Amino acid sequence: MNIVVGVTGGIAAYKAVHLVRLLIGDGHEVHVVPTEDALRFVGRPTWESISRNPVTTSVHDDVPKVRHVALGQNADLVVVAPATANTLAGMAAGLASDLLGTTLLATKAPVLVAPAMHTEMWLHPATQANMATLAARGVHVVGPDDGPLTGGDSGAGRMSEPEAIHAAVRELLGARRDLEGLTVAVSTGGTREPIDPVRFIGNRSSGRQGVALAAAAADRGARVLLAATNVEADVLRDAARPGVEITTAGSATELAEVMRGLAAEADVVIMAAAVADFRAAEVSDGKLTKEAGGVPALTFVENEDIVAGLAANRREGQRIVAFAAETGEDYLERARRKRRKKDVDFLAVNQVGWDKGFEAPDNTLYFLNSQDEVVGEASGSKRQVADALLDVISGA
Ligand code: CTP
Repeated sequence: MNIVVGVTGGIAAYKAVHLVRLLIGDGHEVHVVPTEDALRFVGRPTWESISRNPVTTSVHDDVPKVRHVALGQNADLVVVAPATANTLAGMAAGLASDLLGTTLLATKAPVLVAPAMHTEMWLHPATQANMATLAARGVHVVGPDDGPLTGGDSGAGRMSEPEAIHAAVRELLGARRDLEGLTVAVSTGGTREPIDPVRFIGNRSSGRQGVALAAAAADRGARVLLAATNVEADVLRDAARPGVEITTAGSATELAEVMRGLAAEADVVIMAAAVADFRAAEVSDGKLTKEAGGVPALTFVENEDIVAGLAANRREGQRIVAFAAETGEDYLERARRKRRKKDVDFLAVNQVGWDKGFEAPDNTLYFLNSQDEVVGEASGSKRQVADALLDVISGA
């Protein structure tokens, strides 16, 4: 494969040398395109000898070969590592001020960036807005990691290790498009049931698993309709890419309405959201105060079971998938009873506890089919688990 590695002016440029070495080791043809600033950290001879290709930074070099567009046109993948705040801003704005800028504009290949900068710069709203713009355009991101930074401070902004960037490259190059033509509706997050205008009953679901499912399904070619209920913006951003349409809902009642609409268009419906089983029978118009005297008593009414309703009304061939978060030893048996009650085609069972499941980056799931057999098991990152569930659903 033809890979362009853009290197921009950060101290982490030295780690990109190892990345290039790993890519060459895989047998790829690698063209390094540094910025002028990057060459102050690692010089041209290093890049040329390690990539075994000529290295230039300017659009005025090698003009007869129209190098400023040819590199981008011929690339199967463009990686920018490290990607400084300045470069990310330039990418978001579409600047073509050097060879890397023109290459990025001329390419139709997937683009992967590995941001590297100080924590303040990474968290700055300008950088975050640029990242959101790039994500919405389909740019893939690896890192940044948390850890020691140059200057002795520590925090988010450290470039991912070359091995992690290499793994992300492999994932992108091997990307399957096996879900092309399918529409997948996914719910994620946790509903909030209002008590009064300022209070609600909620749950600990972060929405990460559903977001990972949406991202994985879209990367595999599906059109994804994502219903997000109370998901933090920085979590939801991981799903932003071409092919994903996001709708938001607040309470279980709102989510039910949204999901009915999305399910009408979907071939596969995955209910990953944690839905409140009960809501306050009466929502106070005014804030409940101590002035009223005594302790307020709340009474509840049951919410509709959204996934059971969708399963009962499923169209021919439509697959309905539920999640079950269970505690305790007999969690698989409880899950089987739940699958039968809801009559779903697949149930992804997640054993949770105070320190397991909800906010953790990793997850372990078992998959039950409509015969209540365990047809798969996956553990690892939420993205890996998402891909495994999509394999089971699509019969791969
Ligand atoms: N679910 C739903 N509507 C509800 C409650 C749950 O669609 N009112 C869905 C969830 O999105 C999930 C599955 O049902 O896919 C299982 O959720 P869970 O809370 O484990 O199931 P419950 O039926 O609420 O069972 P429990 O009494 O164990 O909470």
